[in-house]
Parts: sequence; structure tokens; C-alpha cells
Amino acid sequence: MSTAAERSQFRTEVIAGLSGMPPTLPCKYLYDARGSELFEAICQTRDYYVTRADLALHETHMGDIAKFVGKGAHIIEFGSGAGIKTRLLLAGLDHPRAYTPIEISTVALAESTRDLRATFPNLEIRPLQADYTQPIDDQALQLDPPATKRVIYFPGSTIGNFERQEALDFLIRMRNIAGEAGAILIGVDLIKPVEQLLRAYDDRQGLTAAFNLNLLEHIRRELDAEIDLDAFDHQSRFNSGFQRVEMHLVANRPTVIQIDDRKFEFQPGQSIHTENSHKYSIDSFQELADQANLKPKQVWTDPDDLFSMHWLEAA
Ligand code: TRP
Repeated sequence: MSTAAERSQFRTEVIAGLSGMPPTLPCKYLYDARGSELFEAICQTRDYYVTRADLALHETHMGDIAKFVGKGAHIIEFGSGAGIKTRLLLAGLDHPRAYTPIEISTVALAESTRDLRATFPNLEIRPLQADYTQPIDDQALQLDPPATKRVIYFPGSTIGNFERQEALDFLIRMRNIAGEAGAILIGVDLIKPVEQLLRAYDDRQGLTAAFNLNLLEHIRRELDAEIDLDAFDHQSRFNSGFQRVEMHLVANRPTVIQIDDRKFEFQPGQSIHTENSHKYSIDSFQELADQANLKPKQVWTDPDDLFSMHWLEAA
């Protein structure tokens, strides 16, 4: 459930998106309770290789990653740190000074902090409740005594969900938070054959389709909208110009979405664009990092070369 203010914000964003040419919907609303559950299930499918590859990368290269991080670092994760990857990292490091997960959801943050404290009783864990896409108060990240360096940890492939300029702005913000002595450890999904990419975003169990369609269900429920869910099909497309997978909801018959007195008409084949996942080569991501004034010092890939993790330094 959400507050009246949140619902009004949701409504405004949905109407703005559907009014656009082409129509879009804000991807953050994919993650209601059901959406989050479906996304976890997607991560375990055979077709969605991303999570498995990211994990294999951590398992294969943790020794080397730990050398780059060094002793006494302050690890700052964008996200709650609830996952196995965070545990592998924290277990693999040489005496980290502290760990700060930054997470917007109070509940998710409290739960993962409690679990991590139980596993790592000697590690100082300093959770920070904040929206990491917004400016962060540096005061909240200062340690006494200070760490040897800050390392911003951003696993997964979330950077791929940003458009190029947004990704660049985000890297610049991370660099500012890391400071001159700091570094960024960031996961990036690699370009690969189109069929393999499309499968990853349209798995054979139909979970990604259910996940994408659940966005319409979320809107219907929360905004009391009139939507015929059966009138839309999930589709993943590769946009070669932007080197990204796009998620769409495509009308399969003439249909109308109605929210209060606003009506949005769709003809068969017309789509609502819901999400992007940009793919990079090692070189193309290093170029982007370079534009953010970050120095690419190392890159690791999983044994199957599906996924990469970059070590970028601010100095
Ligand atoms: N960060 C994930 C990715 O781009 C998110 C994601 C996976 C996703 N599958 C999806 C988003 C399907 C929307 C629809 O790989």
C-alpha cells in the first residue's frame, strides 16, 4: 500500500509516460511485491544468464579483486547488499574498515543489515537510508578514523538500465562520492549474440513476460485504471543503434487504457516501451568511464565471458 502523495506521483508519471510518443512507462514501478518476487525467479532461470555469470565472476576473481581493494577500505554499496555477491566480497576482503549499504527501502535495509551483522560480527556496518540516484550527504559517509579509501560497489547490471547520458552522470556522481583516493567496482553486462540477449529478456518459462505484464496489473490496482491485460503481449527487442535490449508491451488488438477521465488508445502492434538494458563491450564501457574522468585499471569477466566487472580509479 502507498500514501496518497505516492499514488498521485505514480498517476502523474504513468499519464506522462502513456502520453508520450512513443508511449512509455516508468520502469521503477515494475518492482511492486509481485514484481520483486518475479524478478528473483527470473534470476534463477536458465535463459537469464546475468545473475549466474556475475556470481561466477565473483567466485573466480575474488582474490584479485581483494588485492585491488586493499586493507582498511570503506565499501559503499549502492543497493541493500542482501545478496550472495556482497557476502562473497565482504568475506574475501582484507580487514575492510566499514561497509555502508545505501538503500531507499527502510525494510530491505534493516533486514539485510541485521543478516550481515550476524554473519560479519567484527565488521562495522553503517547502513544509510537514501535514494542513491539523488545527492548523498557526505557527512553520513565519513568515518573516524577514516578508511584508507572508499570503494563504491555496484554489482548486477543496473548501470545498463540507464541511457548513455544518465550512465555518464551516474559515474560522475559515483566518482565524487568515492573521492580522489577512491575507486569504483561496477558490474556491466557484455554485448553478445542477439538471440541470446533476446532470450534472456523473454525466458521460456514466461517469467519475464509475467514480470513486464505485472506493471499493467500494478497500475490497474493502484490507480483503479481500466486495462485489458490480455490485450498486451510482452516482447524483447534488440535496438542495435543504442546497443540495448528493450522491453515492450505490444497491443495484440485495439484496446484502451483508461485512468479516470484520460483514455489512451492502442492499435494492434503499437507498443508501450517499459525498460532498456544497455550492453557494452569492455572498450565501450572504458570509454564511458574515461569521459567521467575515471581511470580503468582492471576488468574481470566470468569464465564464459558473458559479464564483466570494472575497477575504475578516481585519481
Ligand atoms: N537490471 C536487469 C537487467 O537489465 C533488470 C531486468 C532483467 C529487467 N530482466 C528484466 C527489467 C526484464 C525489465 C524487464 O538485466
